[in-house]
Amino acid sequence: MSRGPLVLLSCAVALVLSITLGAYHPFGNARMYESNNGSDRIGSQLPSPVQSILIQKCADCHSNHTRAPLYGHFAPVSWLMERDIVRARSSMDLSAWSSYPAEEQRVLLAKIVHETNSGEMPPLQYRLVHWGSRITDSDLQVFRTLTSNVDRAPVMVQVGSADPAHGKELFNKQCTGCHSLSQNHEGPTLQGVYGRSVGIAAGFAYSDALKKVRFVWDEAALDRWLSDPDAFVPGNAMDFSVPNPQSRRDIISYLRQNPGN
Ligand code: HEC
Ligand code: HEC
Repeated sequence: MSRGPLVLLSCAVALVLSITLGAYHPFGNARMYESNNGSDRIGSQLPSPVQSILIQKCADCHSNHTRAPLYGHFAPVSWLMERDIVRARSSMDLSAWSSYPAEEQRVLLAKIVHETNSGEMPPLQYRLVHWGSRITDSDLQVFRTLTSNVDRAPVMVQVGSADPAHGKELFNKQCTGCHSLSQNHEGPTLQGVYGRSVGIAAGFAYSDALKKVRFVWDEAALDRWLSDPDAFVPGNAMDFSVPNPQSRRDIISYLRQNPGN
C-alpha cells in the first residue's frame, strides 16, 4: 500500500476510536448532551445582574445547563471536559442554588468573589477557548456588592457568655469551606491560630497586606478580623465576615480551645 491511503486509513481509525471512546466516561458522566428540563434556574434568588454573569461565564461547568460544543463528543477532550464539569458541579451547582442552606450560600458567595478576584475562575483552559468569559472589573463590582450587602448588615444582639460548642458548629458551617485545622486550603490552616502570629502558616501564599502586618491572633484581633477583615487589614484576601457579635464570640472561644491539636 502506498503512503496516502495508509495515512487516510489511520485518520479514519483514530476518528472512529475517538468517537467510540467518547461514549465512555472515565471521570464520571456529565450528561453534556442531554437537554435539561429548564425547571431549575441558575442561581435562582440571586439578583439578576449576578445571575446573568453566572449564566454567561460559569454555567457551562457549574450547572446542568452546559452548552456542550461539537468537539465534546471526541475522546480524550470529552473526558477532560467531563472531569472539570463533574468536579465543578460537586463544589458548586448553580442549578441547585436554592437548595443550599443559607449559611452555605453565604460561603459560596464569598468564594465566588474570591475565585474571580484572584483570576482562578473561570479556569485558564476555558478562558482560552471562550474569549468572552474573562471576568471584567464591572463583573467584580457586581459580585462584590453581593457579599458586602450580605456581610455588613448590622445585627443587633445581646452578647451573652461564649459557647464554644456552638462556636464549633459555626466554625464547621462557615469556616471549613475555606479553612481546615490540619492543612492549607483556600485559606491558611487554622490549627493553633489562637496565640499564633499573623501570616505564618507554612506554605500558604498570604496576600501582601497580611504579610506586612505584625500582631498575634488574640481575642480582640480575631474579633476585629471576623467582624470586618477589610477594615482591619485593608487589601487582605479573605472575603468573608461574621457580622453577629455573639457568633464571633462563640467561634473565638472555640478557637481558643486550640482545636486540631
Ligand atoms: C471549565 C469549567 C469551569 C468554569 C467555566 C468555571 N469553573 Fe469554577 N470550578 C471548576 C472546577 C473544576 C472546580 C473545582 C476544582 C477546583 O477547585 O479547582 C471549580 C470550583 C469553583 C468554586 C469552588 C472553589 C472551592 O474552593 O470550593 C467556585 C466558587 C467557583 N468554581 C466559581 C466559579 C465562577 C464564579 C465561575 C464563573 C465566573 C466559574 N467558577 C467558572 C470549573 C469551572
Ligand atoms: C471564602 C473563604 C474563606 C472563609 C469562608 C473564611 N476564610 Fe479565613 N481566610 C481566608 C483567606 C483567603 C485567608 C488569607 C487572607 C490573606 O492572605 O490576606 C484567610 C485568613 C484567615 C485568618 C488569618 C490566619 C493567619 O494565618 O494569619 C484567620 C484567623 C481566619 N481566616 C479565620 C477565619 C474564620 C474563623 C472563618 C469562619 C468564621 C473564616 N476565616 C472563613 C478565606 C476564608
